[in-house]
Amino acid sequence: MTIHADALDASPVTLAAARAEFDADATYLDTATFGLPPRRSWAALQQALAQWRAGTADAVAYDLPLAAARASYVHLAGVDPCVVAVGSQVSVFAGLIAANLPDGREVLTATGDFTSILFPFYAQSGRGIRVREVPLDRIAECVTSRTTLVAVSAVQSADGRVADLDALHAASRATGARVLVDTTQAVGWLPVNASRWVAAAPAVRLLAQVGAQSLHRHALGLANRFRAGIGLKPGDSAIVSLATNGAAADAMAAARITGSARAGRLRLSFHVSTSDQDADLAADVLRRHVTSRHLATL
Ligand SMILES: Cc1ncc(COP(=O)(O)O)c(C=O)c1O
Repeated sequence: MTIHADALDASPVTLAAARAEFDADATYLDTATFGLPPRRSWAALQQALAQWRAGTADAVAYDLPLAAARASYVHLAGVDPCVVAVGSQVSVFAGLIAANLPDGREVLTATGDFTSILFPFYAQSGRGIRVREVPLDRIAECVTSRTTLVAVSAVQSADGRVADLDALHAASRATGARVLVDTTQAVGWLPVNASRWVAAAPAVRLLAQVGAQSLHRHALGLANRFRAGIGLKPGDSAIVSLATNGAAADAMAAARITGSARAGRLRLSFHVSTSDQDADLAADVLRRHVTSRHLATL
């Protein structure tokens, strides 16, 4: 079929215009769990549902938004369109890769990484696939000639730690190991050159139109604005992980702030839909609930 040119349009959109497309009626700091739909996505979904119900949907036309999503990912991640496959879940693609590893091979992963890129490899243990978990900050130095594949997230889902992909690239080139980088928590705020990797991530057109550098400045700037507001030094991630006291959840609920609990800590994520006011409100509410032990160690 022919893909219309506007399906691939990536004309620039300012951050302010992009942010105006979001309608959260609370302070939403949980994009790491699920991103909010911009108005254009909401409208497209309503239209598709209405056409489906009315019997006027065109199955072939479903390829258009898919082509646009593929083009957006190409724009954000610097890959060739012909290598972008679209699927429903990261774990499905990881499972395909796991199932195609030769028997008895070693897969190197980061301890505590997201289950979608860990469990598919553990599921192959019956034919001798060995999963070796090492601390994220040592993953590059742990690549050896016995490592067939390194499977790791560019940004850790639980706490936002950022992998040193340059070091991993160098280490894997030295031994010939293949690398599977899960960019789910990265593409959309962290500029990632995925042309070096087998990659998996969601992408949307609005993000491509705003551009990776603007998104990075915005999301990281907000995370660091929040960190400064509670007395932490700046970090390198749009996801902030905090140890808090038992009253934090109630204080957040009273102020209508949404975050999530991961690995026994509070996780807040800052993204295109988040504003300065959101970061400041969260800092005001949480300042007295962040445990001092953690303030000293971050
Ligand atoms: C790092 C990471 N990978 C993948 C996923 C989603 O995995 P799946 O598509 O298999 O449900 C998430 C969701 O939070 C994630 O944080």
